[in-house]
Amino acid sequence: MFIDTHCHLHDPKLPDTDAVVNAYLRDGVDTVINMGCCAATSIGGKLLAEKYPSVYFATGCHPSDVETFDDTEFNKIAELTSHPKCVAVGEIGLDYYWKPFDKDKQEKAFVKQIELAKESKLPICIHNRDATGDMLKILKDHKDKLVYGGVMHCYAGSVETAAELLKLGLYISFAGPLTFKNARSLLEVAAFVPCDRCLTETDSPFLAPHPLRGTVNEPKNVAITTAFLANLKGIELTEFAAILKNNAKRLFYKMK
Ligand code: NI
Repeated sequence: MFIDTHCHLHDPKLPDTDAVVNAYLRDGVDTVINMGCCAATSIGGKLLAEKYPSVYFATGCHPSDVETFDDTEFNKIAELTSHPKCVAVGEIGLDYYWKPFDKDKQEKAFVKQIELAKESKLPICIHNRDATGDMLKILKDHKDKLVYGGVMHCYAGSVETAAELLKLGLYISFAGPLTFKNARSLLEVAAFVPCDRCLTETDSPFLAPHPLRGTVNEPKNVAITTAFLANLKGIELTEFAAILKNNAKRLFYKMK
Protein backbone atom coordinates (compact mmCIF):
# COMPACT_ATOMS: atom_id res chain seq x y z
CA MET A 1 0.00 0.00 0.00
CA PHE A 2 2.88 2.42 0.68
CA ILE A 3 5.64 3.60 -1.63
CA ASP A 4 9.00 4.95 -0.52
CA THR A 5 9.91 7.31 -3.38
CA HIS A 6 13.49 7.96 -2.25
CA CYS A 7 15.90 5.64 -0.46
CA HIS A 8 19.49 4.43 -0.59
CA LEU A 9 19.37 0.66 -0.14
CA HIS A 10 22.98 0.34 -1.26
CA ASP A 11 24.22 2.44 1.68
CA PRO A 12 26.66 0.53 3.93
CA LYS A 13 24.45 1.43 6.91
CA LEU A 14 21.91 -1.05 5.47
CA PRO A 15 24.14 -4.10 4.96
CA ASP A 16 21.44 -6.81 4.97
CA THR A 17 19.27 -5.92 1.96
CA ASP A 18 17.18 -9.10 2.19
CA ALA A 19 16.20 -8.24 5.77
CA VAL A 20 15.40 -4.61 4.87
CA VAL A 21 13.26 -5.66 1.89
CA ASN A 22 11.42 -8.34 3.88
CA ALA A 23 10.76 -5.86 6.69
CA TYR A 24 9.19 -3.25 4.43
CA LEU A 25 7.13 -5.79 2.49
CA ARG A 26 5.79 -7.11 5.78
CA ASP A 27 4.89 -3.58 6.89
CA GLY A 28 2.86 -2.77 3.76
CA VAL A 29 5.48 -0.98 1.66
CA ASP A 30 5.16 -2.60 -1.75
CA THR A 31 7.39 -0.30 -3.82
CA VAL A 32 10.63 1.63 -3.26
CA ILE A 33 12.73 3.81 -5.54
CA ASN A 34 16.46 3.58 -4.97
CA MET A 35 18.36 6.80 -5.74
CA GLY A 36 21.70 7.01 -7.45
CA CYS A 37 24.42 9.33 -6.11
CA CYS A 38 27.08 8.49 -8.72
CA ALA A 39 27.55 5.92 -11.51
CA ALA A 40 28.51 3.14 -9.07
CA THR A 41 25.45 3.60 -6.81
CA SER A 42 23.19 4.00 -9.87
CA ILE A 43 24.49 0.67 -11.20
CA GLY A 44 23.98 -0.70 -7.68
CA GLY A 45 20.36 0.44 -7.87
CA LYS A 46 19.92 -1.32 -11.19
CA LEU A 47 21.22 -4.59 -9.74
CA LEU A 48 18.84 -4.27 -6.77
CA ALA A 49 15.94 -3.57 -9.15
CA GLU A 50 16.81 -6.68 -11.13
CA LYS A 51 16.92 -8.76 -7.96
CA TYR A 52 13.84 -7.48 -6.10
CA PRO A 53 10.46 -6.99 -7.86
CA SER A 54 9.54 -4.18 -5.41
CA VAL A 55 12.62 -2.06 -6.21
CA TYR A 56 12.83 0.58 -8.95
CA PHE A 57 15.77 2.93 -9.35
CA ALA A 58 16.91 6.38 -10.41
CA THR A 59 20.25 7.13 -12.03
CA GLY A 60 22.22 10.29 -11.38
CA CYS A 61 25.06 12.19 -9.77
CA HIS A 62 24.40 13.86 -6.39
CA PRO A 63 25.69 17.46 -6.08
CA SER A 64 28.09 16.40 -3.32
CA ASP A 65 29.61 13.82 -5.70
CA VAL A 66 30.29 16.10 -8.69
CA GLU A 67 34.04 16.03 -8.06
CA THR A 68 34.23 12.80 -10.06
CA PHE A 69 31.54 13.78 -12.58
CA ASP A 70 33.28 13.60 -15.96
CA ASP A 71 32.21 12.30 -19.38
CA THR A 72 32.89 8.67 -18.46
CA GLU A 73 30.81 9.00 -15.30
CA PHE A 74 28.04 10.80 -17.19
CA ASN A 75 27.93 8.15 -19.93
CA LYS A 76 27.57 5.36 -17.37
CA ILE A 77 24.72 7.26 -15.69
CA ALA A 78 23.04 8.05 -19.02
CA GLU A 79 23.26 4.45 -20.24
CA LEU A 80 21.03 3.30 -17.38
CA THR A 81 18.09 5.53 -18.32
CA SER A 82 16.81 3.03 -20.90
CA HIS A 83 16.55 0.24 -18.32
CA PRO A 84 12.88 -0.78 -17.91
CA LYS A 85 13.05 -0.23 -14.12
CA CYS A 86 14.88 3.11 -14.27
CA VAL A 87 12.07 5.56 -13.46
CA ALA A 88 13.93 8.85 -12.92
CA VAL A 89 17.14 10.83 -13.15
CA GLY A 90 18.28 11.47 -9.59
CA GLU A 91 19.27 12.50 -7.25
CA ILE A 92 20.56 15.70 -8.81
CA GLY A 93 20.68 19.32 -7.67
CA LEU A 94 22.67 21.67 -5.49
CA ASP A 95 24.22 21.27 -2.04
CA TYR A 96 25.97 24.24 -0.43
CA TYR A 97 26.00 22.64 3.00
CA TRP A 98 28.80 20.10 2.70
CA LYS A 99 32.05 22.04 2.27
CA PRO A 100 34.09 22.59 0.23
CA PHE A 101 31.81 22.72 -2.80
CA ASP A 102 32.20 23.91 -6.36
CA LYS A 103 29.11 25.93 -7.34
CA ASP A 104 30.03 26.02 -10.99
CA LYS A 105 30.63 22.29 -11.22
CA GLN A 106 27.40 21.54 -9.35
CA GLU A 107 25.41 23.78 -11.68
CA LYS A 108 26.92 22.23 -14.81
CA ALA A 109 26.22 18.70 -13.58
CA PHE A 110 22.67 19.67 -12.56
CA VAL A 111 21.85 21.22 -15.95
CA LYS A 112 23.48 18.39 -17.89
CA GLN A 113 21.33 15.87 -16.01
CA ILE A 114 18.15 17.95 -16.43
CA GLU A 115 18.87 17.71 -20.16
CA LEU A 116 19.49 13.97 -19.84
CA ALA A 117 16.08 13.59 -18.17
CA LYS A 118 14.36 15.34 -21.04
CA GLU A 119 16.17 13.29 -23.68
CA SER A 120 15.48 10.03 -21.89
CA LYS A 121 11.86 11.00 -21.13
CA LEU A 122 12.22 10.73 -17.37
CA PRO A 123 11.30 12.93 -14.38
CA ILE A 124 14.02 14.32 -12.09
CA CYS A 125 14.52 13.86 -8.33
CA ILE A 126 15.95 17.10 -6.98
CA HIS A 127 18.22 17.53 -3.98
CA ASN A 128 18.54 21.05 -2.55
CA ARG A 129 20.43 22.03 0.56
CA ASP A 130 21.14 25.68 1.40
CA ALA A 131 20.91 26.59 -2.29
CA THR A 132 17.26 27.55 -2.81
CA GLY A 133 17.88 30.78 -4.77
CA ASP A 134 20.25 29.21 -7.31
CA MET A 135 18.14 26.05 -7.50
CA LEU A 136 14.96 27.98 -8.36
CA LYS A 137 16.83 30.08 -10.91
CA ILE A 138 18.23 26.99 -12.69
CA LEU A 139 14.84 25.27 -12.70
CA LYS A 140 13.14 28.38 -14.11
CA ASP A 141 15.86 28.92 -16.72
CA HIS A 142 15.43 25.32 -17.88
CA LYS A 143 11.68 25.09 -17.45
CA ASP A 144 11.28 23.94 -21.07
CA LYS A 145 13.33 20.85 -20.25
CA LEU A 146 11.14 19.78 -17.33
CA VAL A 147 8.75 18.04 -19.73
CA TYR A 148 8.53 14.89 -17.61
CA GLY A 149 8.31 16.77 -14.34
CA GLY A 150 10.06 15.99 -11.13
CA VAL A 151 10.01 16.04 -7.37
CA MET A 152 11.74 18.12 -4.74
CA HIS A 153 12.94 15.44 -2.39
CA CYS A 154 12.92 15.78 1.40
CA TYR A 155 11.29 19.20 1.24
CA ALA A 156 12.55 21.55 3.94
CA GLY A 157 11.77 25.01 2.54
CA SER A 158 9.12 27.68 2.90
CA VAL A 159 5.53 27.85 1.67
CA GLU A 160 6.65 30.50 -0.86
CA THR A 161 9.31 28.22 -2.37
CA ALA A 162 6.84 25.34 -2.44
CA ALA A 163 4.44 27.57 -4.40
CA GLU A 164 7.18 28.29 -6.96
CA LEU A 165 7.95 24.58 -7.32
CA LEU A 166 4.27 23.72 -7.77
CA LYS A 167 4.06 26.40 -10.47
CA LEU A 168 6.91 24.60 -12.26
CA GLY A 169 4.77 21.45 -12.20
CA LEU A 170 6.90 19.69 -9.61
CA TYR A 171 5.84 17.42 -6.77
CA ILE A 172 6.84 17.97 -3.14
CA SER A 173 8.14 15.00 -1.17
CA PHE A 174 8.00 14.86 2.61
CA ALA A 175 10.45 12.81 4.65
CA GLY A 176 11.08 12.12 8.35
CA PRO A 177 11.71 15.78 9.31
CA LEU A 178 7.98 16.48 8.84
CA THR A 179 7.38 14.46 12.00
CA PHE A 180 10.07 16.14 14.11
CA LYS A 181 8.98 18.14 17.13
CA ASN A 182 10.48 21.37 15.75
CA ALA A 183 8.86 21.08 12.32
CA ARG A 184 6.35 23.92 12.65
CA SER A 185 7.09 25.62 9.33
CA LEU A 186 6.98 22.27 7.52
CA LEU A 187 3.50 21.69 8.93
CA GLU A 188 2.38 24.86 7.15
CA VAL A 189 3.93 23.60 3.92
CA ALA A 190 2.22 20.22 4.32
CA ALA A 191 -1.13 21.96 4.79
CA PHE A 192 -0.46 24.12 1.73
CA VAL A 193 0.62 21.50 -0.85
CA PRO A 194 -2.43 19.91 -2.54
CA CYS A 195 -2.80 16.15 -1.95
CA ASP A 196 -2.35 15.39 -5.63
CA ARG A 197 1.15 16.94 -5.56
CA CYS A 198 2.43 15.27 -2.36
CA LEU A 199 4.79 12.31 -2.10
CA THR A 200 6.46 10.69 0.89
CA GLU A 201 9.86 9.06 1.26
CA THR A 202 12.38 7.97 3.87
CA ASP A 203 15.78 8.94 2.39
CA SER A 204 16.94 5.77 4.18
CA PRO A 205 19.31 5.26 5.91
CA PHE A 206 19.07 8.94 6.91
CA LEU A 207 16.42 11.06 8.63
CA ALA A 208 14.40 8.46 10.54
CA PRO A 209 11.00 9.91 11.52
CA HIS A 210 9.91 10.60 15.09
CA PRO A 211 10.00 8.60 17.42
CA LEU A 212 12.86 6.76 15.70
CA ARG A 213 14.87 9.92 15.09
CA GLY A 214 18.62 9.25 15.23
CA THR A 215 18.36 5.56 14.34
CA VAL A 216 19.22 3.95 10.99
CA ASN A 217 16.21 4.65 8.78
CA GLU A 218 14.56 1.98 6.61
CA PRO A 219 11.92 2.15 3.85
CA LYS A 220 9.35 0.51 6.17
CA ASN A 221 9.28 3.80 8.12
CA VAL A 222 7.65 5.61 5.20
CA ALA A 223 4.43 4.34 6.80
CA ILE A 224 5.08 6.64 9.81
CA THR A 225 5.59 9.79 7.72
CA THR A 226 2.65 8.93 5.46
CA ALA A 227 0.35 8.40 8.47
CA PHE A 228 1.54 11.71 9.93
CA LEU A 229 0.75 13.55 6.69
CA ALA A 230 -2.62 11.76 6.29
CA ASN A 231 -3.52 12.94 9.78
CA LEU A 232 -2.56 16.55 8.92
CA LYS A 233 -4.65 16.37 5.79
CA GLY A 234 -7.57 14.79 7.68
CA ILE A 235 -7.75 11.85 5.29
CA GLU A 236 -8.07 8.22 6.30
CA LEU A 237 -4.69 6.47 5.92
CA THR A 238 -5.63 3.81 3.35
CA GLU A 239 -7.30 6.40 1.15
CA PHE A 240 -4.36 8.79 1.50
CA ALA A 241 -1.79 6.07 0.74
CA ALA A 242 -3.75 5.32 -2.45
CA ILE A 243 -3.62 9.01 -3.45
CA LEU A 244 0.16 9.07 -2.94
CA LYS A 245 0.57 5.82 -4.87
CA ASN A 246 -1.36 7.35 -7.77
CA ASN A 247 0.79 10.48 -7.64
CA ALA A 248 3.94 8.35 -7.77
CA LYS A 249 2.62 6.33 -10.71
CA ARG A 250 1.74 9.50 -12.58
CA LEU A 251 5.23 10.97 -12.08
CA PHE A 252 7.30 7.79 -12.29
CA TYR A 253 5.19 6.53 -15.18
CA LYS A 254 7.56 3.65 -16.05
CA MET A 255 6.54 1.91 -12.82
CA LYS A 256 4.15 -0.98 -13.34
NI1 NI B 1 18.90 10.93 -0.89
